[in-house]
Order: sequence, then C-alpha cells, then structure tokens
Amino acid sequence: MSVQIGNLTEEYFNSGTLSMLPTQLFIDGKWVSSISGEEIETLDPGTAKVFAKVSAAQKEDVDFAVEAANKAFFNSWRDMKPSKRGDILSKAADLLEQKSDLFSVVEALDSGKPLAEAQGDVSNSVGALRYYAGCADKIQGDSFPLGEGVFSFSSVEAVGVTAHIIPWNYPLATTIRGVAPALAAGCTAVVKPAEQTPLTAMLLADIFKDAGLPDGVYNVIPGTGKGAGSPLVNHPKVQHITFTGSVGTGTLVMQAAARNISSVTLELGGKSPIVALADCDIEKTAEGVLWAIFYNAGQICSAGSRLVVDRTIHRELVDRIVEKTSQLKAGHALNNTNYGAINSKEQLDKISGFVERSKGRGIKAVCGGYPLANESTGEGWFYAPTIMDEVPMEDELVQEEIFGPVLTVQVVDGVEEAIKVANCTNFALAAGIYTQNISNALRLSRSIDSGQITVNDYWAGGIEVPFGGNRRSGIGREKGLEALKNYCSTKSITMAF
Ligand code: NAI
Ligand code: MG
Repeated sequence: MSVQIGNLTEEYFNSGTLSMLPTQLFIDGKWVSSISGEEIETLDPGTAKVFAKVSAAQKEDVDFAVEAANKAFFNSWRDMKPSKRGDILSKAADLLEQKSDLFSVVEALDSGKPLAEAQGDVSNSVGALRYYAGCADKIQGDSFPLGEGVFSFSSVEAVGVTAHIIPWNYPLATTIRGVAPALAAGCTAVVKPAEQTPLTAMLLADIFKDAGLPDGVYNVIPGTGKGAGSPLVNHPKVQHITFTGSVGTGTLVMQAAARNISSVTLELGGKSPIVALADCDIEKTAEGVLWAIFYNAGQICSAGSRLVVDRTIHRELVDRIVEKTSQLKAGHALNNTNYGAINSKEQLDKISGFVERSKGRGIKAVCGGYPLANESTGEGWFYAPTIMDEVPMEDELVQEEIFGPVLTVQVVDGVEEAIKVANCTNFALAAGIYTQNISNALRLSRSIDSGQITVNDYWAGGIEVPFGGNRRSGIGREKGLEALKNYCSTKSITMAF
C-alpha cells in the first residue's frame, strides 16, 4: 500500500470523510454552488453512511453549463490545432496517473467497490485518455472521384456540445470513455454523474484544468436524473448524448433527443451468456465465470450473468465455481477485500427481490441467495455471491437484468441448443464462449447476437476494442476508433473548376 493510500484510509476511518473532496459544480472553468443551493448526499456503500455532500444542479445550472460549453466550442476548442488538443489530453493522462491513489480511494468509497478494482478503473482511464490523445490529430476525411472539372472531398468536423449521463457502477471510467473521444474530436462536454457517485467526475475537472484545458470545455453538474439529467438531455444546444444506464431511462433520453434531432449513444443493460461447451477447460472456465459475474459484485452491464452449460459438464463446472466463491471475501472497499458492496439500498433490495421471488417458484440457490453485512462491523450493503441452478428459459431470472452477484445457470444439450439459449433474451451486449474447438468457437461467434464476443477469457479486450450492444442493450459503439464517429459529422465539399 502506498503512503498516500495509507494516509487517506486512516483519515477516512478516523473522521468518516476526506477533507479534500470537491463539493461544487464545475462550470466554465470555475467551481460554483448550484443556484438553488440544493445539495445531494453521497453514501459509502460499505458503511451505509453519508460521507460527502455536493451541490445539486437544477435546470438553471444546466443552462449555464451548456452555454459555457457552447461558447468554448466556438471560441477555443473546435479550432485549436488538433495536435495541441492531443497534448492537453496527454497531459491530463499524466496528471491522472500521478493522482491514481487519490482517485482510487475516492472511487472505492463512493461506489463500494474494492480498492484494487478502483485502481484498475483508474489505470484503464489513464490508458483511455492516452489512447484518444493520440487520436486527436488523426481524424481525417476523404476525397471522391467525380471526373474532370470537379474536385470533391470531405472534412470530418466536431458536432458541438455533448452531454454525458453517467451511471454509478463505473463512475470515472464511464466518464472518460465518453469524454476522451469527444474532446479529442473537438467537442465540448457537460457531464452529469450519477447521484450516488459524483465525486471522481468532479475531481477530474481539476486534472483537466491543470492540463491546460480551456474554460468551458469540460463541465460537471452533479444532481439527480430528474433535476439535472433531464434538462441536460432536453437542451436544444446539446448535439450528442452519450448515456449509460437502464433501458427505461435510455428510452426517455432517446425521446428527449428526438425532439431536438440530436444523436445518441445508448449503452444499456445486458443479460450476457457464457457458453461452456462439453470440451472446455473446466478450471479456466470456472475461473472465467467466477469473475465474469462476481467482479464489482455483478454490477456491470456486460457481466456474464447467464451460464449456458452443456449437460455433460454441468455438475462438475457448477461445483467448481461454487468452490471458488470461497475465495471471495466481502468487506469494506478500503479493507483489502476482493468482493465489494452493492452500491445502494435500492439496488440491494432489487437483487434480493429477484432471488426471493425465484425461490418461491422452486428455483434453487446452490450458493448464496441472501444479503450479507460487512463481517467486521455488521454495516453496509452486501449480497452473497449467488448461483441459481437449472433455471427455465422463460423465467425472469433469465430474462431480466438483475445487476448484482447472481449467476443464472441454463443447462443445454449440444451446440445447437446452446446457440438458441444464448440468444433467448431481448439483450445482446456481450457473450463469452469457452471451448477448445476452434470451429465451434467460430460458429458460436457468428450465431450469437451480441456487440462483443470473447473466447476463453471473458474480460479480454481493452480501450482499442469497440463496445456496445444490439437490441435492448443499446445503440452505437463506444471505445476504439469507432467512438470518435459519435462526436463527428462529415461535411462534403464539391468544387467545380
Ligand atoms: P438510471 O438509468 O436511472 O441512471 C443512470 C443515469 O441516468 C444516472 O446518472 C441518473 O441520474 C440519470 N437519469 C435518470 N433519469 C434521467 C432522466 N430522466 N434524464 C436524464 N438522465 C437521467 O439507472 P439507476 O436508477 O441508477 O439504476 C436502475 C437500474 O439500471 C439498475 O438496477 C441496473 O439494472 C441498470 N443500470 C445499468 C447500467 C449499465 O451499465 N448499463 C448502469 C446503472 C444501472
Ligand atoms: Mg456513493
């Protein structure tokens, strides 16, 4: 543990808070309180206690932020030499890396995830900033052959002000996943973090300022979905909305965008299958499934929440996963745990509700199936790693996103049935395949409807790889070079001579 993490941990456990936390909105390069004076509390899921309060933006604050972003777009950012934009993002990556300890501790406290996971998120965020810093001066157009006397070419241009609505499960990483390509492309950003986890998106404002980002290019307006999110996505000067969250709220966001003809990227829920074929490596598959569903206590849109397993290996594989759940040690985020809390009481109740209802229908938990408290203090919102076995295809445990540490097992006979069962929900975000047979791996990869597929390593991938869903899982792609397209429009210019 670094000295700084030690100091921050000590300060937190002694005082129940941290002295350096941001508290205000960040608009046009300045920290300001909300005009209404309203505040929201943020809680530590590991203790269920309030540890910080921040200003809560309302419509009038949102209007200021969007105006600032619009002014900055036209006055400074859009026309800056692209390599200079890249330099600023690159500097921001360096500064974030230098402050990794602080960001990791704050992220862990705000979300409830284990410190080690928060450290991974910060390091991925540094990588994402660097990746898009390198893209800033490589966004280019094309030329089109029209024959003698005409010259036609395209210019790829930034769309303008972009809104970013962030969920509570990956607060910093989701912010940077949207903001980094937007800024690289020359757009400006207004970020509305989730009310449960506003702090790291706010801290990021200082990093950008210190990196030399002009005022108004990055604005943060914490607040509720209704108070701040809704006026932001309804604002006529917002040209693109990047939203990650629930299907219901995604629908509202798309309706708001429709009124203004603004574009959207929607990254919504999932019910992602992991197909384990008869010839898979059982140990590797069990380890893959364990972390596919229990990383961040299952609060991941792309969690591998359905195990679709061949009957011949069903018992052996499930037993092995159950055995591995004993590696998981629930605890407070800063107490060297590898299994964190559920982000809110509402989410904990939602998870419990799904499991209790399914028990009523006769479905069995082979492990877990109940809430936990932090073993040493009895506090906090935790849920035991849970595996529900032999669940029928039409059951709500199969069809609905639980967004928690609940693995649903579906037993199949052979490859054909595996494909059918893998595709049996309205979601299509991610899928994992475990097999040693390359033909079956390719066949399943082609037949499963999903934005991303991994073979023999569920979390394989990186910022370079496009990410997003089909059907109810969303619209558009983030990450990779593809994400830049969300923030650009093509202008074609044709000249006769
Ligand atoms: P949510 O979709 O309501 O919240 C996500 C973000 O949208 C938050 O920043 C929220 O303040 C904002 N928001 C809410 N209403 C809005 C509106 N009318 N206009 C604009 N922004 C608005 O999700 P919530 O309530 O936090 O969680 C509910 C469920 O959603 C979870 O149980 C889980 O199943 C799913 N979820 C999925 C996520 C994903 O990564 N795909 C992330 C978070 C939640
Ligand atoms: Mg919180």
